[in-house]
Amino acid sequence: MHDRPEQHAYVDCVPGFPSERLERYLHRALTLPIRDTLLSALGHFSTAGVASDLGCGPGKEVAELLRHGWRVEAVDAYAHMLEVTQAAAIEAVGAQETSARLCCVHALIANWSAPPNSLDLVHAGFSLPFVAAADFPKVWGTMCAALKPDSIFAGQLFGLKDSFLAESPAGSMNAHTHDEVVQLLRGFQVISITEEERDGVVGIPPNERAKHWHVFHIVARRNQG
Ligand SMILES: C[S@@+](CC[C@H](N)C(=O)[O-])C[C@H]1O[C@@H](n2cnc3c(N)ncnc32)[C@H](O)[C@@H]1O
Repeated sequence: MHDRPEQHAYVDCVPGFPSERLERYLHRALTLPIRDTLLSALGHFSTAGVASDLGCGPGKEVAELLRHGWRVEAVDAYAHMLEVTQAAAIEAVGAQETSARLCCVHALIANWSAPPNSLDLVHAGFSLPFVAAADFPKVWGTMCAALKPDSIFAGQLFGLKDSFLAESPAGSMNAHTHDEVVQLLRGFQVISITEEERDGVVGIPPNERAKHWHVFHIVARRNQG
């Protein structure tokens, strides 16, 4: 798999996830383990398949998927994240395997698409909440259509009390009630939904900032047919 050059026209700008937010995330990212949601999803597969990682960040989960033999499409709005992901992939499985099994796509998630019934797994770790509210229904619909029967979605959505919402330009993010999350997962068999609400921080000293987290951690299997 190779980069798709036509996708590179997008500027590195996400209204819901500006570069300042990305920097604070990256300061902590090195200390973060591979996402539990992805590890849980992988535990439900006996063979490797085709995955998309939407908002891949520095590519820890992409590297893990490649180590498990998957073909992976890594999508991110920031070109730098795709460079770091590419490096993480080469470190994990070598240049030849990376070239054969990783495709990096520089795009907004709102502009991402995939053929219907083409994916065995979508991982979207702390990225879907930064899709503009008006774009979210289309993104969710595209993702659901791209997932094969029995495939898995693993990732996070935000609840209404997440403090990033009030700090972001109106409409630049999306968030959901528990009931809305259940509705979104109508076409899925839920493996786990954990709702987490807590006070925490983003960034590291001296640039640490208080942050109220309201997150749904989701692993769900797409229904048959
Ligand atoms: C908080 S980081 C999470 C990275 C990684 N998935 C993880 O679980 O640690 C969010 C990532 O999603 C990307 N992202 C956020 N909103 C996006 C959007 N609307 N389109 C494309 N990428 C986006 C950011 O650039 C960033 O790399």
